[in-house]
Amino acid sequence: MPPFTTTAAWRSLLEHRDALAGTKLSRMWDDDPGRGEALTFGCAGLAVDLSKQRITPQTVALLAALARERGLPAAIDRMFSGETVNVTEKRAALHTALRGDEHAMVDGTDVRPELQRDHERMRVFTEAVRAGQWKGATGLAFTHVLALGIGGSSLGPQLAIEALHAEADGPEVRFITNIDAAEFDDATEGLDPATTLAVIASKTFTTQETMENALAARQWISSALGEAAIAKHFIASTSNIPAATQWGLPECNIFPFADWVGGRYSLWSSVGLPIAIAVGIARFDRMLAGAHAVDLQFRSDPLERNVPALMGLASVWNRNALGFSSEAVLSYASRLEHLPQYLQQLEMESMGKRVTEDGTPVDFHTCPVVWGGTETPGQHAFHQWLHQGTDTMSCEFIVVAQAMGERTTHHEILLSNACAQSEALMNGVDKGDAARACPGNRPSTTIVLPRLDAYYLGALLACYEHKVFTQATVWGINPFDQFGVELGKTIASEILPAVRGANVPLHAASRHLLDVIRKLAASA
Ligand code: F6P
Repeated sequence: MPPFTTTAAWRSLLEHRDALAGTKLSRMWDDDPGRGEALTFGCAGLAVDLSKQRITPQTVALLAALARERGLPAAIDRMFSGETVNVTEKRAALHTALRGDEHAMVDGTDVRPELQRDHERMRVFTEAVRAGQWKGATGLAFTHVLALGIGGSSLGPQLAIEALHAEADGPEVRFITNIDAAEFDDATEGLDPATTLAVIASKTFTTQETMENALAARQWISSALGEAAIAKHFIASTSNIPAATQWGLPECNIFPFADWVGGRYSLWSSVGLPIAIAVGIARFDRMLAGAHAVDLQFRSDPLERNVPALMGLASVWNRNALGFSSEAVLSYASRLEHLPQYLQQLEMESMGKRVTEDGTPVDFHTCPVVWGGTETPGQHAFHQWLHQGTDTMSCEFIVVAQAMGERTTHHEILLSNACAQSEALMNGVDKGDAARACPGNRPSTTIVLPRLDAYYLGALLACYEHKVFTQATVWGINPFDQFGVELGKTIASEILPAVRGANVPLHAASRHLLDVIRKLAASA
């Protein structure tokens, strides 16, 4: 497929951009006070306000035309019908089936019965743990869960449990992701092995950090309770059943998910076990329902008001027509603190690509830097850069309409700050004093959740998944592989023996750096 930059639709978009070039966002509002209504769209109860993007209704129409020219509707159908959309790894990408899609065929087989069985096992197990019926080796109920995993096997559960904190009425979940002994020690501090359940989440069951942490947890539990306790205290979420079995887990402790569920799309599978333990399977199911509602709309809404598609198309516009190299995710909700990190993996691992699906190098920019923070603290850290720095970026404001907790004054102040920041970025200020002037014209999207609950969280994350799919389809890249992360892993395995003192061949730069580290370790 030729690059999107050669299409007639893209040429029209560039002409349109040039025509708009002199018109600031503030002027667009003066010219059309109805743009708020015209450019705010609904999806599964979320409101997505694009009226502070440097777009007009005509831009939306032209972007929709670009999506059509790039075959987005057909690509959506292919993904949902289980075709091999992950072409490099020759797999489907059918995470949508986990949230209740009725069309779940892979290689001509209906996978729904298998998914229902897996989900039922998850329900029975998590309810037994929460009710204190699945007990530890000494007969005590579990009060804590150690969730061992990294990347897609950790970020989703971490985000969801944090977001649903108000509804967390099960055992407390602590996460160990990094291969840093301090993290292991901090997470296990104060825990009793007798009342701790460990969940190993790893699609491959080979990830170095997770397997080493699982081994450490195994030693921590078996030294207190004996090796026989392992079958009571460890479960696994994985696609690699033989490896989990070899690790010593009985079949009933292994909760599988299919290889067509990508790691960063696996929150909806048994990787979500810690969520279901923490908040209950009913709330986990509400999260699936919110995501499913978005799936239905992504499949059926016209592109001109298809929220996930428009989110992706706005990003293409900002990246490729306006040249912005970053997107800041600003969560106006403390319980969404992990959202920027979650989206970093979803967007940057999916779209950090430099060749198209058929291996042709691209001649345009793909994924921008995705970063962000929790607000309002971020306002007192990096917003200065947003308002007066030399780069222009697009911001995504995430706002929750309903107050969390009883303190309404807090919520009023939080909301006023969210509105103020996007207005300030848009309008800027010029009082004749260069040091105080803010140029404005800095675009943003605001996504409003009615409240922070499982349903709307599921909807929000599904919107972003399909946003990514939209961008990848326009760019012609595969968002479902991640070969770039392999090189570093390979080199680390070559360096490890040297760290341990073996005389193995190393690149001079790594040898030098190890020497520096050793000298400082010796003098510390
Ligand atoms: O960082 C690469 C990656 O493969 C991610 O895509 C994945 O989410 C993470 O590592 C963890 O992988 P696994 O679930 O196989 O342990």
